[in-house]
Amino acid sequence: MSSTSSKVGQLSLIRCPATIFMHALSYRYGTTMVTVFDSRFLFDDDNVETETSVQQKKVEKLVREEYDKFLAKANANMDEPDAQLSPTLSKTVHSHYLLSSLERLSNTYSTLDSSRSWMCYWALHSLRLLNCDIPEDLKTRIVKFLKSCKTHEGGYAGGPGQAAHLATTYAAVMALVTLKTDEALSSIDRKALRNFILSVKNKDGSFSLHKDGETDMRGAYCALAVATITNILDDEISTNTADWITTCQTYEGGFGSGISCEAHGGYTFCAMASLALLGKTNRAYIPTLLKWLANKQMRYEGGFQGRSNKLVDGCYSYWQAAIFPLIEFALQSENHWKDDYVKHLELFDWKALQMYTLVACQDPSGGLRDKPDKSRDLYHTCYALSGLSIAQDYATADDPNVGDGQNRLNRVNAVFNVCVAEEQRAKEYFANLID
Ligand code: FPP
Ligand code: ZN
Repeated sequence: MSSTSSKVGQLSLIRCPATIFMHALSYRYGTTMVTVFDSRFLFDDDNVETETSVQQKKVEKLVREEYDKFLAKANANMDEPDAQLSPTLSKTVHSHYLLSSLERLSNTYSTLDSSRSWMCYWALHSLRLLNCDIPEDLKTRIVKFLKSCKTHEGGYAGGPGQAAHLATTYAAVMALVTLKTDEALSSIDRKALRNFILSVKNKDGSFSLHKDGETDMRGAYCALAVATITNILDDEISTNTADWITTCQTYEGGFGSGISCEAHGGYTFCAMASLALLGKTNRAYIPTLLKWLANKQMRYEGGFQGRSNKLVDGCYSYWQAAIFPLIEFALQSENHWKDDYVKHLELFDWKALQMYTLVACQDPSGGLRDKPDKSRDLYHTCYALSGLSIAQDYATADDPNVGDGQNRLNRVNAVFNVCVAEEQRAKEYFANLID
């Protein structure tokens, strides 16, 4: 191994924030070193091969291959004046992929015809994370398209002529917030939204996703996020919801989609963000939640899995990592997230997460993916970048981000998953509206 490659190869990231925190709570955890792509942390199947162990080993091999490619490229470039020891976020190719997706999508997206408002949100939010401006005429066309997704029920559908759904309502509203223009924000009919949200509310405080549809944690989050950002949240919308959410925390510590369901990162994010919106994060039992969450970060890959014994996936970089700042809010006095004040306790290995995203999730042609053998898509581009932004928030001058400032994304509000400047503008805009 050349001296350069050994330098790069030793990019081991020494910290175990969860351990530090557990100590603070008087838990007895040994001091551990957390590193990324370190062979000591490869999966050990104890000589019992299962379908799960085979899949896990396959993913570790794929991740290692990507890391080797990065090391080879870094070493080959070492003689160049601007040689980088750290992986780079290819901002320009990602922006091109996103802008072109907003104009035309490949045939593979035809199955997502009922998620067109989602695709607007995923692409627009990703562009803002990358600090890429959206052309004015494109903004106007998107506002017009989202108006065509409005329904007589008051919420937004995934496409014109379809039924209102809480998830596509969340997506449409956050897309309009991300567009940030008066044209976009004024297109939201708050009275109609309120009627829709109340029409899908259940007596026990939960929300169905659509009329006569299924009830799960996404419903509570989408209803509360939309109501809060448009400044229509009131007791009628919020009554009993925190009670219902707390019944969904599992023996593992994470939350399930409903009562007695398996703990999962997506639903745990929805639960904790909803409690944050209600100013009631203290209703979650934090010690087991934190233990479950910290253990969802993969020791070898650096990214997160969504649930126990499953594989790493780039989208959990957001669903799981964004829960850490929410827990930090819970550990401080309630409602501090509103003041944009987060005291970083560093409860996860934020550099390892950055390494997974940068080394394993970038498609060289633009866009991000779940893991190396998967194709890029708008959903994973959005959540891998959102998670990267969350991880970057933990850097300090003494302990900078992977790639220093060059990879820095715009900051994200961890409760809504829109960029901070856009959330602030929406808050200001809707605070001053009378109806
Ligand atoms: C994969 O399950 C699960 C997802 C792709 C969705 C997870 C995200 C949420 C539930 C949050 C939704 C949020 C909003 C705002 C609507 P899987 O069984 O295919 O994957 P796994 O093996 O990783 O568990
Ligand atoms: Zn995923």
